[in-house]
Amino acid sequence: MENNILQLIYLLASITFIVGLKFLGNPASARKGNLIAAFGMGIAIFGTIFLYQNPDSGKHLHNIGFVFAALAIGTLLGFIAAKKVQMTAMPEMVSLFNGMGGACAMLISIIEFQHLNQTLAEPISLVMALTPGFTNALTGKLIIILLGMIIGSVSFSGSMVAWGKLSGNVKDKSLGRQQLINIGLLFVIFAFAYLVIGGNGEHTSLFFYLVLALSLLYGVLFVLPIGGADMPVVISLLNSFTGVAAAFGGFLYDNKVMLVGGILVGSAGTLLTIVMCKAMNRSLLNVLIGNFGGGAKGEAATSSSFEGSIKELTASDAAILMRYAKKVIIVPGYGLAVAQAQHVVHDLELLLESEGVEVKYAIHPVAGRMPGHMNVLLAESNVSYDKLLEMEEINPEFASTDVVLVVGANDVVNPAAKTDPNSPIYGMPILDVENAANVIVNKRSMKAGYAGIENELFFKPKTSMLFGDAKKALTELVNEIKALG
Ligand code: TAP
Repeated sequence: MENNILQLIYLLASITFIVGLKFLGNPASARKGNLIAAFGMGIAIFGTIFLYQNPDSGKHLHNIGFVFAALAIGTLLGFIAAKKVQMTAMPEMVSLFNGMGGACAMLISIIEFQHLNQTLAEPISLVMALTPGFTNALTGKLIIILLGMIIGSVSFSGSMVAWGKLSGNVKDKSLGRQQLINIGLLFVIFAFAYLVIGGNGEHTSLFFYLVLALSLLYGVLFVLPIGGADMPVVISLLNSFTGVAAAFGGFLYDNKVMLVGGILVGSAGTLLTIVMCKAMNRSLLNVLIGNFGGGAKGEAATSSSFEGSIKELTASDAAILMRYAKKVIIVPGYGLAVAQAQHVVHDLELLLESEGVEVKYAIHPVAGRMPGHMNVLLAESNVSYDKLLEMEEINPEFASTDVVLVVGANDVVNPAAKTDPNSPIYGMPILDVENAANVIVNKRSMKAGYAGIENELFFKPKTSMLFGDAKKALTELVNEIKALG
């Protein structure tokens, strides 16, 4: 009876995950989607704690005190972290939490391996060699344990490095011949994994822990060299790894809700990775072996090698240009999030529209520091979704645009992606702002963006710089436009 209720709870929870994911597809319903899925996760957790019975012994979970202590600590830490995190530090937190998911999958595999070792009187591989009838089930279980551990530990250590990189504490580092090293390491990991399953029973535990250590190392080596603008692809890939690793846990425990949750995260993450790869013009295979966008090779041209000079304009010059334009496109970037200028940018849009100017937003898929960052930010200030146009849609429109206002964006409008084969962002599609009649770039200084490279756009004849914090500069711009009457 209890088991039937538990299965029903799992079914309900799985449905909430799917509905939640559907709701997450739109910024307007995303918050609701998150709550629905969190409710599903809540009932699945409490259902398991109180109703789960071991199929062999019929016993309920024990050590409930420890379970609740862990739950309380995790909830408290998660709550405080989510409350305190700055909007700009959100990607780091997501990376850290993703790593924790990978660590859980890794720990499950370690515990289940030890469990298998303890329940069998003999070492695993010896039992498999002696009892062929038993072999298939055991091999299947061992394969799931190993795959869950490899993927979970790569996701854990890779996410930790990604966390360090996003927070600026870890720098890009390539060992040279990185691709070969990574492929070699993968080969060694799978060779040891094979020895765990198909060896002669000697040193099985040793091989198992070697697989663990090398998988952790692989996670580090695979993320460490990923340079400049390519981090988004890796982050979404690590996300899908965690989902897949959790799904292996679901297989292992025959737990439907874990399986469904893991598969949903794994497949959504994989789809996002494919979309990101397309957006960055990178191949998935290259991501997997950690071989692209190395920051080290990407010392792009310095300002002195660019022709042209920097032209600065004042808020009142910018106001005149924009107020008398027919069409304005706003390009938001990471700086908009840093300055929290989403509300004032919306005010600017409304003001220009009230003066008869057509205003649109150009959204680059990797603008900001997390997928959908700009959409979320602009949704917060109630910018209408039909004004947010994706890169492929908006690029042909720049040629018929009077003024482009770039707000705190840099890499996503850097022409080096098209012109400089040595640049770490070479090949990444960018927003073609140069095609517009005038480009106004708002940022605080001439400092580089995330990829750490200079931007020739700032030196082009059509470009003028409006220096200053985005919130302050745009507020001034709005006031100047109002003053024009
Ligand atoms: P970035 O290239 O990082 O440039 C942001 C610019 O904003 C900086 O050059 C900075 O210049 C300016 N800025 C910072 N604070 C500002 C403020 N308060 N007011 C005005 N400007 C400010 O941003 P992007 O163009 O959005 O490109 C995103 C980059 O991040 C890409 O390289 C992308 O690959 C990478 N990335 C993206 C993601 C995802 S999933 N979106 C994840 C990880 C990494 P100043 O310092 O001179 O002001």
